[in-house]
Amino acid sequence: MAPTSEPPRTGDVLVVGGGIIGLVTAWRAAQRGLATAVVDPAPGGGAARVAAGMLAAVTELHYGEQTLLALNLASARRYPSFAAELSDATGLDLGYRPCGTLAVALDADDRAHLRELHAFQRRSGLESEWLSGRECRRLEPMLAPGVRGGLRVDGDHQIDPRLLAAALLVACERAGVAFHRTTAGRLTVAGDRATGVVTADGTTLEADRTVLAAGSLSSRLAGVPGGLLPPVRPVKGQVVRLTMPSGQPPLLHRTVRAVVRGNPLYLVPRESGELVVGATSEELGWDTTVTAGGVYELLRDAHELVPGITELPLAETLAGLRPGSPDNAPLLGPTALDGLLLATGHFRNGVLLTPVTGDVMAHVLTTGELPEEARPFTPGRFGAAPAPTEQPA
Ligand code: GLY
Repeated sequence: MAPTSEPPRTGDVLVVGGGIIGLVTAWRAAQRGLATAVVDPAPGGGAARVAAGMLAAVTELHYGEQTLLALNLASARRYPSFAAELSDATGLDLGYRPCGTLAVALDADDRAHLRELHAFQRRSGLESEWLSGRECRRLEPMLAPGVRGGLRVDGDHQIDPRLLAAALLVACERAGVAFHRTTAGRLTVAGDRATGVVTADGTTLEADRTVLAAGSLSSRLAGVPGGLLPPVRPVKGQVVRLTMPSGQPPLLHRTVRAVVRGNPLYLVPRESGELVVGATSEELGWDTTVTAGGVYELLRDAHELVPGITELPLAETLAGLRPGSPDNAPLLGPTALDGLLLATGHFRNGVLLTPVTGDVMAHVLTTGELPEEARPFTPGRFGAAPAPTEQPA
Protein backbone atom coordinates (compact mmCIF):
# COMPACT_ATOMS: atom_id res chain seq x y z
CA MET A 1 0.00 0.00 0.00
CA ALA A 2 1.31 3.47 -0.89
CA PRO A 3 2.37 5.66 2.05
CA THR A 4 -0.39 8.14 2.97
CA SER A 5 2.00 11.10 2.56
CA GLU A 6 2.25 10.43 -1.19
CA PRO A 7 0.07 12.83 -3.20
CA PRO A 8 -2.74 11.31 -5.25
CA ARG A 9 -1.89 10.82 -8.93
CA THR A 10 -4.37 11.17 -11.76
CA GLY A 11 -2.05 9.24 -14.00
CA ASP A 12 1.30 8.70 -15.59
CA VAL A 13 1.06 11.37 -18.28
CA LEU A 14 -0.86 14.63 -18.53
CA VAL A 15 -0.81 16.27 -21.96
CA VAL A 16 -1.53 20.00 -22.01
CA GLY A 17 -3.09 20.71 -25.41
CA GLY A 18 -5.47 18.62 -27.47
CA GLY A 19 -4.40 19.60 -30.98
CA ILE A 20 -3.01 16.94 -33.27
CA ILE A 21 0.41 16.95 -31.56
CA GLY A 22 -1.08 16.59 -28.07
CA LEU A 23 -3.53 13.95 -29.26
CA VAL A 24 -0.96 11.82 -31.06
CA THR A 25 1.27 11.98 -27.99
CA ALA A 26 -1.61 10.89 -25.76
CA TRP A 27 -2.71 8.13 -28.14
CA ARG A 28 0.76 6.64 -28.45
CA ALA A 29 1.38 6.93 -24.70
CA ALA A 30 -1.92 5.19 -23.89
CA GLN A 31 -1.12 2.46 -26.42
CA ARG A 32 2.07 1.79 -24.44
CA GLY A 33 0.07 1.22 -21.27
CA LEU A 34 0.53 4.65 -19.66
CA ALA A 35 -2.46 6.13 -17.83
CA THR A 36 -2.87 9.29 -19.90
CA ALA A 37 -5.03 12.41 -19.73
CA VAL A 38 -5.39 15.47 -21.97
CA VAL A 39 -6.39 18.93 -20.75
CA ASP A 40 -7.88 21.22 -23.40
CA PRO A 41 -11.17 23.15 -23.56
CA ALA A 42 -11.83 21.95 -27.12
CA PRO A 43 -9.71 18.91 -28.00
CA GLY A 44 -9.38 18.26 -31.72
CA GLY A 45 -9.16 21.99 -32.48
CA GLY A 46 -6.09 24.18 -32.74
CA ALA A 47 -4.04 24.99 -35.82
CA ALA A 48 -5.14 21.77 -37.56
CA ARG A 49 -8.56 23.35 -38.11
CA VAL A 50 -6.91 25.81 -40.45
CA ALA A 51 -3.99 23.83 -41.89
CA ALA A 52 -4.13 22.65 -45.49
CA GLY A 53 -2.53 19.30 -44.63
CA MET A 54 0.31 19.18 -47.15
CA LEU A 55 2.89 16.51 -46.37
CA ALA A 56 5.52 18.54 -48.17
CA ALA A 57 8.98 17.52 -46.97
CA VAL A 58 10.46 18.08 -50.44
CA THR A 59 8.56 21.07 -51.84
CA GLU A 60 8.77 22.98 -48.52
CA LEU A 61 12.53 22.48 -48.24
CA HIS A 62 14.23 25.64 -46.97
CA TYR A 63 17.88 26.62 -46.73
CA GLY A 64 19.23 26.10 -43.24
CA GLU A 65 16.64 23.43 -42.42
CA GLN A 66 18.60 20.32 -43.46
CA THR A 67 18.45 18.86 -39.94
CA LEU A 68 14.69 19.31 -39.89
CA LEU A 69 14.51 17.68 -43.34
CA ALA A 70 15.66 14.36 -41.87
CA LEU A 71 12.82 14.42 -39.32
CA ASN A 72 10.31 15.54 -41.97
CA LEU A 73 11.34 12.67 -44.25
CA ALA A 74 11.21 10.17 -41.39
CA SER A 75 7.64 11.27 -40.66
CA ALA A 76 6.64 11.28 -44.36
CA ARG A 77 7.85 7.67 -44.67
CA ARG A 78 5.66 6.69 -41.70
CA TYR A 79 2.50 8.33 -43.05
CA PRO A 80 1.05 5.40 -45.05
CA SER A 81 1.25 2.96 -42.13
CA PHE A 82 0.30 5.63 -39.58
CA ALA A 83 -2.80 6.61 -41.56
CA ALA A 84 -3.77 2.96 -42.09
CA GLU A 85 -3.35 2.19 -38.37
CA LEU A 86 -5.37 5.23 -37.31
CA SER A 87 -8.15 4.47 -39.80
CA ASP A 88 -8.26 0.83 -38.65
CA ALA A 89 -8.39 1.90 -34.99
CA THR A 90 -11.26 4.31 -35.53
CA GLY A 91 -13.08 3.28 -38.71
CA LEU A 92 -12.62 6.88 -39.87
CA ASP A 93 -11.35 8.23 -43.17
CA LEU A 94 -8.47 10.71 -42.87
CA GLY A 95 -8.52 12.09 -46.39
CA TYR A 96 -5.00 10.77 -46.88
CA ARG A 97 -4.26 11.27 -50.57
CA PRO A 98 -0.95 10.11 -52.08
CA CYS A 99 -1.36 12.45 -55.03
CA GLY A 100 2.02 14.18 -55.27
CA THR A 101 2.71 17.90 -55.71
CA LEU A 102 3.53 20.21 -58.60
CA ALA A 103 5.41 23.43 -57.80
CA VAL A 104 5.20 25.90 -60.69
CA ALA A 105 6.68 29.22 -61.78
CA LEU A 106 4.74 32.07 -63.38
CA ASP A 107 7.53 34.43 -64.35
CA ALA A 108 11.28 34.51 -64.86
CA ASP A 109 12.01 35.33 -61.19
CA ASP A 110 9.79 32.50 -59.94
CA ARG A 111 11.43 30.19 -62.44
CA ALA A 112 14.92 31.10 -61.23
CA HIS A 113 13.77 30.54 -57.64
CA LEU A 114 12.37 27.14 -58.56
CA ARG A 115 15.56 26.17 -60.44
CA GLU A 116 17.51 26.98 -57.26
CA LEU A 117 15.12 24.89 -55.19
CA HIS A 118 15.46 22.03 -57.64
CA ALA A 119 19.26 22.10 -57.42
CA PHE A 120 19.05 22.20 -53.61
CA GLN A 121 16.60 19.29 -53.59
CA ARG A 122 18.90 17.23 -55.81
CA ARG A 123 21.95 18.04 -53.64
CA SER A 124 19.87 16.88 -50.66
CA GLY A 125 19.19 13.55 -52.39
CA LEU A 126 15.48 14.24 -52.94
CA GLU A 127 13.30 13.07 -55.82
CA SER A 128 12.15 16.00 -57.92
CA GLU A 129 11.74 16.34 -61.69
CA TRP A 130 11.99 19.59 -63.68
CA LEU A 131 9.12 20.06 -66.16
CA SER A 132 8.58 22.61 -68.92
CA GLY A 133 5.49 24.83 -68.78
CA ARG A 134 3.83 22.63 -71.39
CA GLU A 135 4.55 19.48 -69.36
CA CYS A 136 3.07 21.16 -66.25
CA ARG A 137 -0.13 21.98 -68.15
CA ARG A 138 -0.31 18.45 -69.52
CA LEU A 139 -0.43 17.23 -65.90
CA GLU A 140 -2.76 20.03 -64.74
CA PRO A 141 -4.70 21.45 -67.71
CA MET A 142 -6.38 24.18 -65.62
CA LEU A 143 -3.06 25.92 -64.93
CA ALA A 144 -2.63 29.36 -66.48
CA PRO A 145 -1.10 29.35 -69.98
CA GLY A 146 1.72 31.55 -68.67
CA VAL A 147 3.21 28.86 -66.40
CA ARG A 148 6.94 28.82 -67.23
CA GLY A 149 8.04 25.52 -65.74
CA GLY A 150 7.75 23.50 -62.58
CA LEU A 151 8.88 20.73 -60.29
CA ARG A 152 7.05 17.43 -60.15
CA VAL A 153 7.42 15.87 -56.70
CA ASP A 154 5.52 12.62 -56.57
CA GLY A 155 6.39 11.96 -52.91
CA ASP A 156 4.72 15.04 -51.34
CA HIS A 157 1.16 14.05 -50.46
CA GLN A 158 -1.74 15.44 -48.40
CA ILE A 159 -4.14 14.59 -45.60
CA ASP A 160 -7.23 16.39 -44.26
CA PRO A 161 -6.09 17.80 -40.88
CA ARG A 162 -9.65 18.14 -39.55
CA LEU A 163 -10.30 14.47 -40.26
CA LEU A 164 -6.92 13.62 -38.77
CA ALA A 165 -7.76 15.50 -35.56
CA ALA A 166 -11.21 13.89 -35.35
CA ALA A 167 -9.72 10.42 -35.78
CA LEU A 168 -7.00 11.04 -33.19
CA LEU A 169 -9.68 12.13 -30.73
CA VAL A 170 -11.62 8.89 -31.23
CA ALA A 171 -8.41 6.83 -31.11
CA CYS A 172 -7.50 8.46 -27.79
CA GLU A 173 -10.95 7.79 -26.34
CA ARG A 174 -10.79 4.16 -27.44
CA ALA A 175 -7.31 3.79 -25.96
CA GLY A 176 -8.61 5.03 -22.59
CA VAL A 177 -7.23 8.58 -22.59
CA ALA A 178 -9.13 10.79 -20.12
CA PHE A 179 -10.18 14.27 -21.30
CA HIS A 180 -10.44 17.34 -19.07
CA ARG A 181 -12.33 19.86 -21.20
CA THR A 182 -10.98 22.98 -19.58
CA THR A 183 -7.96 25.28 -19.78
CA ALA A 184 -4.69 24.49 -18.02
CA GLY A 185 -4.16 27.54 -15.82
CA ARG A 186 -0.81 26.87 -14.21
CA LEU A 187 1.90 24.23 -14.03
CA THR A 188 2.38 22.86 -10.53
CA VAL A 189 5.88 22.20 -9.26
CA ALA A 190 6.82 20.43 -6.03
CA GLY A 191 10.46 20.67 -5.03
CA ASP A 192 12.35 20.23 -8.27
CA ARG A 193 9.63 18.34 -10.17
CA ALA A 194 6.63 19.24 -12.30
CA THR A 195 3.58 17.54 -10.84
CA GLY A 196 0.75 18.50 -13.21
CA VAL A 197 -1.46 21.54 -13.62
CA VAL A 198 -4.18 23.49 -11.89
CA THR A 199 -6.96 24.16 -14.35
CA ALA A 200 -8.73 27.47 -14.89
CA ASP A 201 -11.63 26.18 -12.75
CA GLY A 202 -9.27 25.33 -9.90
CA THR A 203 -9.04 21.56 -10.32
CA THR A 204 -5.66 20.00 -9.58
CA LEU A 205 -4.57 17.40 -12.11
CA GLU A 206 -1.50 15.44 -11.14
CA ALA A 207 0.74 13.21 -13.19
CA ASP A 208 4.24 11.77 -13.15
CA ARG A 209 4.98 13.51 -16.45
CA THR A 210 3.40 16.62 -17.92
CA VAL A 211 3.77 17.16 -21.67
CA LEU A 212 3.31 20.73 -22.85
CA ALA A 213 1.88 20.40 -26.37
CA ALA A 214 -0.28 23.49 -26.72
CA GLY A 215 1.07 24.86 -30.02
CA SER A 216 1.87 28.57 -29.91
CA LEU A 217 0.12 28.83 -26.51
CA SER A 218 2.86 26.62 -25.04
CA SER A 219 4.86 29.76 -24.33
CA ARG A 220 2.07 31.06 -22.08
CA LEU A 221 1.56 28.44 -19.40
CA ALA A 222 1.92 30.11 -16.01
CA GLY A 223 4.03 28.44 -13.36
CA VAL A 224 6.76 27.17 -15.68
CA PRO A 225 10.05 28.13 -14.02
CA GLY A 226 12.04 30.93 -15.63
CA GLY A 227 13.98 29.97 -18.72
CA LEU A 228 12.01 26.78 -19.37
CA LEU A 229 9.08 28.25 -21.25
CA PRO A 230 9.41 27.13 -24.86
CA PRO A 231 10.44 29.98 -27.18
CA VAL A 232 7.51 29.49 -29.56
CA ARG A 233 5.64 32.37 -31.12
CA PRO A 234 2.40 32.59 -33.10
CA VAL A 235 2.78 32.98 -36.87
CA LYS A 236 -0.56 33.78 -38.42
CA GLY A 237 -1.75 31.99 -41.53
CA GLN A 238 -4.92 32.92 -43.39
CA VAL A 239 -6.54 30.42 -45.74
CA VAL A 240 -9.53 30.35 -48.07
CA ARG A 241 -11.64 27.26 -48.70
CA LEU A 242 -13.43 26.92 -52.02
CA THR A 243 -15.74 24.18 -53.24
CA MET A 244 -15.05 22.38 -56.51
CA PRO A 245 -18.12 21.25 -58.46
CA SER A 246 -19.02 17.57 -58.19
CA GLY A 247 -19.72 15.45 -61.24
CA GLN A 248 -17.14 17.29 -63.35
CA PRO A 249 -13.47 16.56 -64.07
CA PRO A 250 -11.41 17.71 -61.06
CA LEU A 251 -10.07 21.24 -61.28
CA LEU A 252 -6.70 19.97 -60.02
CA HIS A 253 -5.40 16.42 -59.54
CA ARG A 254 -2.63 17.12 -57.05
CA THR A 255 -1.40 19.86 -54.73
CA VAL A 256 -0.15 22.84 -56.74
CA ARG A 257 2.31 25.30 -55.23
CA ALA A 258 3.94 28.46 -56.46
CA VAL A 259 5.79 31.54 -55.32
CA VAL A 260 3.86 34.45 -56.85
CA ARG A 261 5.81 37.74 -56.70
CA GLY A 262 7.64 36.41 -53.69
CA ASN A 263 4.50 35.14 -51.87
CA PRO A 264 4.30 31.37 -51.31
CA LEU A 265 0.94 29.99 -52.40
CA TYR A 266 -0.62 26.55 -52.46
CA LEU A 267 -3.83 24.99 -53.69
CA VAL A 268 -4.75 21.69 -52.08
CA PRO A 269 -7.61 19.84 -53.81
CA ARG A 270 -9.33 17.29 -51.62
CA GLU A 271 -11.26 14.27 -52.80
CA SER A 272 -14.24 15.70 -50.86
CA GLY A 273 -14.35 18.58 -53.37
CA GLU A 274 -12.81 21.14 -51.05
CA LEU A 275 -10.00 23.31 -52.45
CA VAL A 276 -7.83 24.92 -49.78
CA VAL A 277 -5.92 28.03 -50.86
CA GLY A 278 -3.20 29.17 -48.49
CA ALA A 279 -1.51 30.72 -46.78
CA THR A 280 -0.34 34.04 -45.52
CA SER A 281 2.54 34.13 -43.05
CA GLU A 282 2.24 37.07 -40.66
CA GLU A 283 4.07 37.94 -37.46
CA LEU A 284 1.17 39.71 -35.72
CA GLY A 285 1.16 38.15 -32.28
CA TRP A 286 -2.12 36.56 -31.25
CA ASP A 287 -4.26 38.23 -33.90
CA THR A 288 -6.45 35.76 -35.83
CA THR A 289 -8.50 38.28 -37.80
CA VAL A 290 -9.30 37.31 -41.36
CA THR A 291 -8.50 40.44 -43.36
CA ALA A 292 -9.75 41.65 -46.71
CA GLY A 293 -6.12 42.15 -47.75
CA GLY A 294 -5.11 38.61 -46.82
CA VAL A 295 -8.03 37.05 -48.66
CA TYR A 296 -7.56 39.39 -51.64
CA GLU A 297 -3.90 38.45 -52.04
CA LEU A 298 -4.58 34.73 -51.78
CA LEU A 299 -7.38 34.85 -54.34
CA ARG A 300 -5.48 37.22 -56.66
CA ASP A 301 -2.42 34.96 -56.71
CA ALA A 302 -4.50 31.76 -56.94
CA HIS A 303 -6.42 33.25 -59.86
CA GLU A 304 -3.18 34.05 -61.63
CA LEU A 305 -2.16 30.41 -61.23
CA VAL A 306 -5.53 28.74 -61.93
CA PRO A 307 -7.89 31.29 -63.54
CA GLY A 308 -10.90 28.94 -63.20
CA ILE A 309 -11.02 29.32 -59.43
CA THR A 310 -13.10 32.48 -59.66
CA GLU A 311 -16.12 30.35 -60.64
CA LEU A 312 -16.00 28.34 -57.40
CA PRO A 313 -18.21 28.93 -54.37
CA LEU A 314 -16.33 30.48 -51.44
CA ALA A 315 -16.98 28.16 -48.48
CA GLU A 316 -14.85 29.54 -45.65
CA THR A 317 -12.11 31.96 -44.72
CA LEU A 318 -10.15 31.57 -41.52
CA ALA A 319 -6.86 32.19 -39.81
CA GLY A 320 -4.75 30.11 -37.45
CA LEU A 321 -1.49 30.38 -35.57
CA ARG A 322 1.53 28.25 -36.41
CA PRO A 323 3.82 27.64 -33.43
CA GLY A 324 7.09 29.07 -34.76
CA SER A 325 10.40 28.30 -33.05
CA PRO A 326 13.74 30.09 -33.46
CA ASP A 327 15.05 27.47 -35.93
CA ASN A 328 11.63 26.50 -37.38
CA ALA A 329 11.97 23.00 -35.89
CA PRO A 330 10.02 21.39 -33.05
CA LEU A 331 11.02 21.10 -29.42
CA LEU A 332 10.69 17.47 -28.37
CA GLY A 333 11.43 15.68 -25.12
CA PRO A 334 12.44 16.42 -21.54
CA THR A 335 13.21 19.86 -20.18
CA ALA A 336 15.60 20.74 -17.38
CA LEU A 337 12.65 20.42 -14.96
CA ASP A 338 12.02 16.79 -14.06
CA GLY A 339 8.57 15.67 -15.09
CA LEU A 340 8.07 18.42 -17.71
CA LEU A 341 8.40 17.54 -21.38
CA LEU A 342 7.69 19.49 -24.55
CA ALA A 343 6.12 18.59 -27.87
CA THR A 344 5.66 21.95 -29.55
CA GLY A 345 7.16 24.43 -32.04
CA HIS A 346 6.23 22.41 -35.16
CA PHE A 347 5.72 25.63 -37.14
CA ARG A 348 4.87 24.85 -40.80
CA ASN A 349 5.18 21.08 -40.35
CA GLY A 350 2.77 20.05 -37.60
CA VAL A 351 0.64 17.83 -39.79
CA LEU A 352 3.64 16.26 -41.50
CA LEU A 353 5.43 15.66 -38.19
CA THR A 354 2.46 14.11 -36.38
CA PRO A 355 3.47 10.42 -36.83
CA VAL A 356 7.10 10.85 -35.84
CA THR A 357 6.17 13.10 -32.90
CA GLY A 358 3.84 10.43 -31.52
CA ASP A 359 6.55 7.79 -31.78
CA VAL A 360 9.27 10.02 -30.31
CA MET A 361 7.14 11.12 -27.36
CA ALA A 362 5.92 7.59 -26.60
CA HIS A 363 9.52 6.38 -26.67
CA VAL A 364 10.78 9.05 -24.30
CA LEU A 365 7.78 8.66 -21.98
CA THR A 366 8.29 4.90 -21.68
CA THR A 367 12.10 4.69 -21.69
CA GLY A 368 13.26 8.12 -20.51
CA GLU A 369 15.49 8.28 -23.62
CA LEU A 370 15.07 10.38 -26.73
CA PRO A 371 15.39 8.27 -29.88
CA GLU A 372 18.33 9.14 -32.12
CA GLU A 373 16.19 10.91 -34.73
CA ALA A 374 14.89 13.40 -32.13
CA ARG A 375 18.19 14.33 -30.49
CA PRO A 376 18.74 17.49 -32.59
CA PHE A 377 15.36 18.78 -31.35
CA THR A 378 15.82 18.84 -27.58
CA PRO A 379 14.18 21.81 -25.83
CA GLY A 380 17.51 22.75 -24.22
CA ARG A 381 19.11 23.73 -27.53
CA PHE A 382 17.95 27.35 -27.24
CA GLY A 383 19.16 28.01 -23.71
CA ALA A 384 17.04 30.31 -21.55
CA ALA A 385 13.83 31.63 -23.09
CA PRO A 386 12.63 35.19 -22.56
CA ALA A 387 9.65 35.65 -20.28
CA PRO A 388 6.30 36.22 -22.01
CA THR A 389 5.25 39.84 -22.39
CA GLU A 390 1.48 39.76 -22.68
CA GLN A 391 -1.45 37.40 -22.40
CA PRO A 392 -3.45 36.40 -25.47
CA ALA A 393 -6.85 38.01 -25.81
N1 GLY B 1 2.93 24.19 -44.32
C1 GLY B 1 2.10 25.17 -44.85
C2 GLY B 1 2.01 26.39 -44.06
O1 GLY B 1 2.53 26.47 -42.97
O2 GLY B 1 1.41 27.34 -44.54
